[in-house]
Amino acid sequence: MRRQKLSPLSIADCQNTDLMEQYQPILRRLEKTAKQYTNIAPENGQFLSILIRAIQAQNVLEIGTSNGYSAIWLAAALKETGGRLITLEFDPARAAEAKAHLQEVGLDSIVEIRVGNALDEIPKCNATFDLVFLDAEKHEYRRYLELALPNIRPGGLIVADDTVTMRDEMPDYIEFVFNTPTLHSVDIPLDDGVILSYKIGD
Ligand SMILES: C[S@@+](CC[C@H](N)C(=O)[O-])C[C@H]1O[C@@H](n2cnc3c(N)ncnc32)[C@H](O)[C@@H]1O
Repeated sequence: MRRQKLSPLSIADCQNTDLMEQYQPILRRLEKTAKQYTNIAPENGQFLSILIRAIQAQNVLEIGTSNGYSAIWLAAALKETGGRLITLEFDPARAAEAKAHLQEVGLDSIVEIRVGNALDEIPKCNATFDLVFLDAEKHEYRRYLELALPNIRPGGLIVADDTVTMRDEMPDYIEFVFNTPTLHSVDIPLDDGVILSYKIGD
């Protein structure tokens, strides 16, 4: 029997089979103002989405919401895993925009936007996190992580954004994630760069 030759998938085919399909219109729209709102790149959104689905994350913490672009990627994946997102933003206007965007795509019920300084808000979070995404002030990354670390489960993940382009603003974070024995970390040159860390224990 002759094998049927498969035609290669186009990008559109891949997108059509992806769970993100229904969120594509708002993501494409928000990408037009990505510079203004300092949003992550789409490939970093896809990376986070894959991680959340791979570890079947239930609780995710995002530090730095802006207008909610990355929160849509995170929450869409969490909708599939049955999980929830807490996202922290100190600018009330940006938090309001994020809320409106999440409402527009029906993801607001699984996202809690907390308006305040992350340095004050992180210690108030009493969930155990499967994944923490750092994307606020670069020079505060180490403090954010040190505050969040007790609430990250063993086997939990930490993703820090802008670790190539803004690396000189986070020397203490770099030192911490590559020298703490309970963290395994790797640099990934995805867009502006991310460092993925794995917590092996307390
Ligand atoms: C790079 S933007 C976040 C982009 C967002 N993650 C996305 O990709 O859509 C950083 C955001 O963090 C907020 N931010 C900075 N420092 C903060 C702090 N200490 N606490 C809470 N939010 C903070 C800023 O107002 C800004 O909206």
